Amino acid sequence: MTTHPSTPETESIKVASSHPDDMIRMHSVVKTYKNAAGEFKVLKDIDLTIQRGEFATIVGKSGSGKSTLLNMITGIDYPTGGQVVVNGTDIYSITESQRSLWRGKNLGIIFQFFQLLPMLTLLENVMLPMDYVDLYDFDERPAHAMELLEMVGLKDQAHKLPLAVSTGQQQMTAIARALATDAPLLIADEPTGNLDSKTANHMIGIFDQLVRQGKTIVMVTHDPSLTSRTSRTIIIADGELIDETVVKALPLLRHRHMLEITKKAQRIMVQPGEVVLDCGQPVDNLYMIASGSVDVMLADGKHGKLLAHLKAGELFGEIELLRGGKAIACVRAGHHHPVELLTFPREDFLRIIEESPITGGALGNIVQDRLEEHRVKSRM
Ligand SMILES: Nc1ncnc2c1ncn2[C@@H]1O[C@H](COP(=O)(O)OP(=O)(O)O)[C@@H](O)[C@H]1O
Ligand SMILES: [Mg+2]
Repeated sequence: MTTHPSTPETESIKVASSHPDDMIRMHSVVKTYKNAAGEFKVLKDIDLTIQRGEFATIVGKSGSGKSTLLNMITGIDYPTGGQVVVNGTDIYSITESQRSLWRGKNLGIIFQFFQLLPMLTLLENVMLPMDYVDLYDFDERPAHAMELLEMVGLKDQAHKLPLAVSTGQQQMTAIARALATDAPLLIADEPTGNLDSKTANHMIGIFDQLVRQGKTIVMVTHDPSLTSRTSRTIIIADGELIDETVVKALPLLRHRHMLEITKKAQRIMVQPGEVVLDCGQPVDNLYMIASGSVDVMLADGKHGKLLAHLKAGELFGEIELLRGGKAIACVRAGHHHPVELLTFPREDFLRIIEESPITGGALGNIVQDRLEEHRVKSRM
């Protein structure tokens, strides 16, 4: 008979079964608010995983549910249904006071309106979270807080009150405060909302540096110029997440169209080397690559010339859908890994492009480039 070592039940905080690389795992999260008019679902069945070391931005229209989503991760609010695991803790399986202490140790939170205490100096504001979670010896706290202020460029302002410095400096102080307990995860809700673009850029630079040091950052932002500087863009529309393959393949579409594609697209797996689209075959779908890669070949068969190698986030089929006609090239899954594709029906795609001049123009350019490539390689 084999015996299993018994696990001691001494942990007061439940450690949930999520992958060790996951910093955040949300599973079927629903949030409903009730008011006089009835029930209102703000988050509709959210599944989201963010890994350690990611710098993710969340974007969406005003009222789409961004702050509500962040509040589910920080435990400031609670979900109506579903599970949220952050840094290994199932945060709604513990009591509110346990969650509050857990938050102090695990999260740094930065709001749009800095929420510094006005009667404390910048240094004292930064020291405050250390008190709360009882981190560092009392005598060491000022030196640690000073290091953090130095990192955000405010060493010489440390003894001033918040109102004696600029709004940009107040926000930098809020960042230093968020770092006070050396939490692994930073959550920021429109942190640049009140800053000029130069200060906003400085702030993103500091975030970059923190990510390189191993922190995970999730930031809600209105500013599209900031999303290009992060490793991942998550779009929320009407309380639902848009498939990230759609975000990458058709980044300029309106969010409601992205959401429609997310809901209607079919997901298919194609084995390595298998043909997805044969030359001369009618094309009934737009194809977006979710993972893996495909080879686009000039003629079918083993001796076809390679026209292009397309990777995750790229699309194909658009030439035929936009110009009409049968496949002018054939497409095969890459040789080493299966490829995961999203397919979206022709009629729906054409209607959406009709309503989306910017995406129509961008796709027109892709079509031009690819046809040129096709012409050149056909002659070779
Ligand atoms: N405490 C609340 N009670 C009722 N409705 C709320 C509450 N908080 C947010 N909402 C509603 O939920 C929706 C999403 O809000 P929010 O998450 O703040 O959006 P965003 O941050 O994307 O602008 C909005 O329609 C808002 O009015
Ligand atoms: Mg908000």
